[in-house]
Amino acid sequence: MSKLSQRHLLGIKDITREDIELIFETADNFKDVINRPIKKVPSLRDVTIANIFFENSTRTRLSFELAEKRLSADVVNFSASGSSVKKGETLLDTVNNILAMKVDMVVMRHASAGAPHFLSKHIKANIVNAGDGTHEHPTQALLDTFSIREKLGSVEGKKIAIIGDILHSRVALSNIFALKKLGAEVMVCGPATLIPKFIATLGVQVELEVTKALEWCDVANVLRIQLERQQLKYFPSLREYSLYYGISKKTLDSLKKKIVLMHPGPINRGVELTSDAADSHHSIILDQVENGVAVRMAVLYLLAGAA
Ligand code: CP
Repeated sequence: MSKLSQRHLLGIKDITREDIELIFETADNFKDVINRPIKKVPSLRDVTIANIFFENSTRTRLSFELAEKRLSADVVNFSASGSSVKKGETLLDTVNNILAMKVDMVVMRHASAGAPHFLSKHIKANIVNAGDGTHEHPTQALLDTFSIREKLGSVEGKKIAIIGDILHSRVALSNIFALKKLGAEVMVCGPATLIPKFIATLGVQVELEVTKALEWCDVANVLRIQLERQQLKYFPSLREYSLYYGISKKTLDSLKKKIVLMHPGPINRGVELTSDAADSHHSIILDQVENGVAVRMAVLYLLAGAA
């Protein structure tokens, strides 16, 4: 197989294990490319891509832009702040105006779950979801699972604990879909108030004690507390969260086996991870960021039908 089963990447839920494996194989080649002195290939010359971000981002936005430039695409960037969205223009009008300038692909981040799915019904360009509200963040899950495969040889059969604010996390949901499709065992861990009631129906284990999750897993993917999405108080204080769920290097070193530490970023240092844990030999956090460029190159290349 050399083509994806979908013409958009809206979520991991919609794609197959074969799609994910094709993205990984393509990303392996692009990882070689971005580690060469000349980091560019002409694969997407004459393709124009718009990065449309209605929400803040550092990693995803820069990673997509670099991926596009490494593939020789023409790139335009749009931020809602400072745009005519502030004058009341709708999402569809905004995107249609951008597409009228002959844009072929749209990479979109939006605070509303389902925004890229809505767009996909109204426009012809390929769409990549760069995070929609608390729903999905498919390229983050692809780069996370690619990084596990790189570090441990495969994802199949590995035990992955996703720890933290599961309720508000699009990274958690996309990771669960990707990990299950690739044959991993998945556990979610956090305060009961931050674990959605439906989560067990996705075939994951639930654990409320972080030390038990760490003792069980091969990989701990630790998530940020998303205070900006929390209208209610889900735990008494950040200090208390950190006391019960914060992970330090001492905790990691005291485990019977060596585990891999991941985090999608941005890290709240001193809350979910101490600095000595985030920067320790357990951590592959910056490898995840490096792999993000290769994985996004693969997604864009395959969606553009260049395979
Ligand atoms: N991991 C992630 O999505 O980071 P940004 O919000 O900085 O893009």
